[in-house]
Amino acid sequence: MSTASPTATGGAGSQPGSGAPGSRPHGPVAGRISLAEIVHRYGADDPVIDGLALNIEPGEFVCLVGPSGCGKTTLLKLVAGFEFPEGGQVVVDGSRVSRPAGDRAVVFQQPNLFPWLSVRGNVELGPKLSGVSKEDRRMVSDHLLEMVGLADAADKKPWELSGGMQQRCAIARALATDPSIVLMDEPFGALDAITRERLQDELLEIWRQSRATVVFVTHGVEEALYLGTRVVVMGDRPGRILLDLPIGSYGAETGGEVRRSVRDSAAFLDLKRQVRDTIAGARKELS
Ligand SMILES: Nc1ncnc2c1ncn2[C@@H]1O[C@H](COP(=O)(O)OP(=O)(O)OP(=O)(O)O)[C@@H](O)[C@H]1O
Ligand SMILES: [Mg+2]
Repeated sequence: MSTASPTATGGAGSQPGSGAPGSRPHGPVAGRISLAEIVHRYGADDPVIDGLALNIEPGEFVCLVGPSGCGKTTLLKLVAGFEFPEGGQVVVDGSRVSRPAGDRAVVFQQPNLFPWLSVRGNVELGPKLSGVSKEDRRMVSDHLLEMVGLADAADKKPWELSGGMQQRCAIARALATDPSIVLMDEPFGALDAITRERLQDELLEIWRQSRATVVFVTHGVEEALYLGTRVVVMGDRPGRILLDLPIGSYGAETGGEVRRSVRDSAAFLDLKRQVRDTIAGARKELS
């Protein structure tokens, strides 16, 4: 994202956050993901994913939904470079994925913050490990903590934060390496409904500023339709794509300003039915 690391945005001295939306320092084309004919299996079992193809353009906000066990997390792991496919290719910005790297950040359902580090320490860890100077790290964490609304909690330890605050810290930590791709695996799944809706809008605002590519896994059909510029429905046994809906954007283009009225609109409810019917249809096919 253009909002973070000085190292990744042109060396020491460049200003984090100086890139306005749509003017990312590493160019508007970073963040392209291409999955072609992916086959993946664990051990000797049948393939979990078989023949899956998906192309994601820079700056898209893709929400991935589907039944439990259909391979959503596996797909994120393949893009992150935590797993490698038996067949097919995962290509990010023209290069085949061969390992995890700072251009792809991952946010999990549990924040997994380091309890012995402060909020600021957690955010600065990635840049520190990449050799970013103390001064620049401070600039990065100041900017990101402000962005996620944790500036006043910078010196607190993770266990002094609420669940929503911890997840905001995890998001700031993910952004600290200036990723062009953010992979999110049910990041709001453990939060109460009100905190979840607030964080959805905050995430949209962060995405609107950065225009990084986001791949967001969720079980919430409504959450997917609200957040995504595109909703992809996966089916299982084997994992594959059943429906790929470019929906423009509901929450995203407004920065979350319209909220409830959007979620209650007829067009939104129609899409919700379509996605739900696809998931239900896939389940019937298997039974
Ligand atoms: N490390 C692993 N070793 C063996 N099997 C695995 C491993 N990880 C996942 N699987 C299997 O692969 C399948 C897909 O798992 P995955 O976690 O990708 O599903 P998912 O769509 O993310 O499910 P959920 O919605 O429950 O999180 C499941 O059958 C799961 O048991
Ligand atoms: Mg999963």
